[in-house]
Amino acid sequence: MGGIQSGQVDTVMREDRVFAPPAEFAAQARIGSLAAYEKLWNEAAADTEAFWGKLAQELHWFRPFSKVLDWQEPFAHWFVGGQTNVSYNCLDVHLGTPRQNKAAILWEGEPGDTRTLTYLQLHREVCKFANVLKHLGVAAGDVVSIYLPMTPELAIAMLACARIGAVHSVIFGGFSSTAIAERNNDAGAKVVITADGGWRRGAQLPLKANVDEALEKSPTVKHCIVLRRLNNAVHMHEGRDHWWHEMMDGASADCPATPLDSEHPLYILYTSGSTGKPKGIKHTTAGYNLYVKKTMEWVFDLRDEDVYWCTADCGWVTGHSYVVYGPLSCGATVLMYEGAPNWPDEGRFWEIIEKYRATIFYTAPTAIRAFIKWGDKWVDKYDLSSLRLLGTVGEGINPEAWMWYHRKIGRERCPIVDTWWQTETGGIMMSPLPGAIPTKPGSCTRPMPGILPAIVTDSGQPVPDGQGGMLVMTKPWPGMLRGIWGDDDRYRQQYWSKVPHHYLAGDNARRDADGYYWIMGRIDDVINVAGHRLSTIEVESALVSHPDVAEAAAIGRPDDLKGQAVAVFVTLKSGVPNEELKRELKAHVRKEIGALAVPDDVRFTKALPKTRSGKIMRRLLRDIASGKHQIGDTTTLEDFSVLASLQKDEE
Ligand code: PRX
Repeated sequence: MGGIQSGQVDTVMREDRVFAPPAEFAAQARIGSLAAYEKLWNEAAADTEAFWGKLAQELHWFRPFSKVLDWQEPFAHWFVGGQTNVSYNCLDVHLGTPRQNKAAILWEGEPGDTRTLTYLQLHREVCKFANVLKHLGVAAGDVVSIYLPMTPELAIAMLACARIGAVHSVIFGGFSSTAIAERNNDAGAKVVITADGGWRRGAQLPLKANVDEALEKSPTVKHCIVLRRLNNAVHMHEGRDHWWHEMMDGASADCPATPLDSEHPLYILYTSGSTGKPKGIKHTTAGYNLYVKKTMEWVFDLRDEDVYWCTADCGWVTGHSYVVYGPLSCGATVLMYEGAPNWPDEGRFWEIIEKYRATIFYTAPTAIRAFIKWGDKWVDKYDLSSLRLLGTVGEGINPEAWMWYHRKIGRERCPIVDTWWQTETGGIMMSPLPGAIPTKPGSCTRPMPGILPAIVTDSGQPVPDGQGGMLVMTKPWPGMLRGIWGDDDRYRQQYWSKVPHHYLAGDNARRDADGYYWIMGRIDDVINVAGHRLSTIEVESALVSHPDVAEAAAIGRPDDLKGQAVAVFVTLKSGVPNEELKRELKAHVRKEIGALAVPDDVRFTKALPKTRSGKIMRRLLRDIASGKHQIGDTTTLEDFSVLASLQKDEE
């Protein structure tokens, strides 16, 4: 290992551009200078419990808590003895204030239909639907699966569950009947909420048909509520299936929020493990609510006049924390869009920003790389001058993609918040605070107040600044997962066993001399060339900085001599996929990084295999590049034709 301790990763990235927060942004921001951020962070670090305990006073409490944290490693109990309700904190707190008649949700369907719900109207819908659930016998602690398109009813269903203490499990609308049944059974769901369909890129999603198939294998589910979205004829199973609108017709709008224990489960969200069955990540009430509310304020520096657009679907944690619970707790106006970014054409997102005068835009690097590939002409057609802040989440953003986002969408005026977090963390853990922390393209910069990360080796030894290692959290935080549904052993083993007493994120990272964090990719994806451990993100970013490259995935392939050789899969936005370009790309990596990282194998492809949430599935590419005929688990793969075409290229 060339003297490198296990767990360490070499860095080869050179990125020294720095962008200070624009002066006019900083002047108005809640936290308007680096000194102010550092003061807050230091204060929080000195006594995290006192810090969170003080902030928790901002929530509404039916009964105050008596203790901030009871930490029985690895199980956290925050705000012990308190009673609150997330739906109350998102809705009722705004009634009787100037926000009562403010738009809570501005919604646009893919075909162009629109709806607006004020806080008062949203509150009314949520109360009625909570009564519908009660009418079907749903009580606090019961699990409700939600498999809906990105409509206001998705948020209504989530908030209605929260209102009565039912635990929701949102299943992304792209998942199959097998995935739905698996999740229903693992959670013991009693009710499923779905629709007669949804729109995606002009096509109709057969949501109800998928649920029908799943319910044949879901013995715990007693009722199914069906939203009419497409007016499609669907099979309604007598006694089990009920139309949303019929149930709502007679429902009372009076449904006081149930006071719930701080640690009452709020939701389960399934996320794929690297192997085996999906894990049901469990989040609870008070700590989660506080964490998403505060991070929403810090990271987006939200103001009442904002039109805030997070493009994530509520099927992912980003939709839970930063479409529904975070922004509504802050009384924000949330823009919600049902469909695809390239329907009816590649200008749809920009058209929506222009139409609603969106001020904050939060999306995924995979989408940004697609916008770059589609070409600037789509962006140029629209007026994006309303934007004041941009964000990214879900993957590392390659510095060149960051620069495009900064120039083309942000017009060099909008700060970019590159937010690092996970389904498990509940909310944003590291990100620039846009009025305070200068940004560096490709870095998620600094931790949130109250968040204490470290970078360590396998044995838990801190790694010096500048060196890559395993990212851990040294202190519990209120938004953290409380476990894996029904599997305490897996929870302990996965997050708390490799490095004693620290939460293991599963990512590699390094911290630079300014205390900035740079995520280097998943621990399992590290490429080990002749004893040098290379980060996937760094090799990929070098490739993406070539003008012809749209997207790249780097993986390690077994090599007799070097242990592993670098293989890269590349999609192009221009240029011809030939031997000459391959040579040029190798030379480019040599220039950007050095001989060590030069790929032995460059493969051009039309698309990369991705999860349904847009992450590159490097594991599948590893199987392909090493010539394996048996490809690993593909249940989370978004588009099977991509895999088929990659395998065909192999032959
Ligand atoms: O590897 C990191 C990557 O996404 C993982 C978490 O994925 P998920 O649970 O699906 O949550 C996505 C939405 C929060 C992380 O372990 N990741 C997420 N954000 C970033 C990132 N990698 C680099 N930079 C980011 N900003």
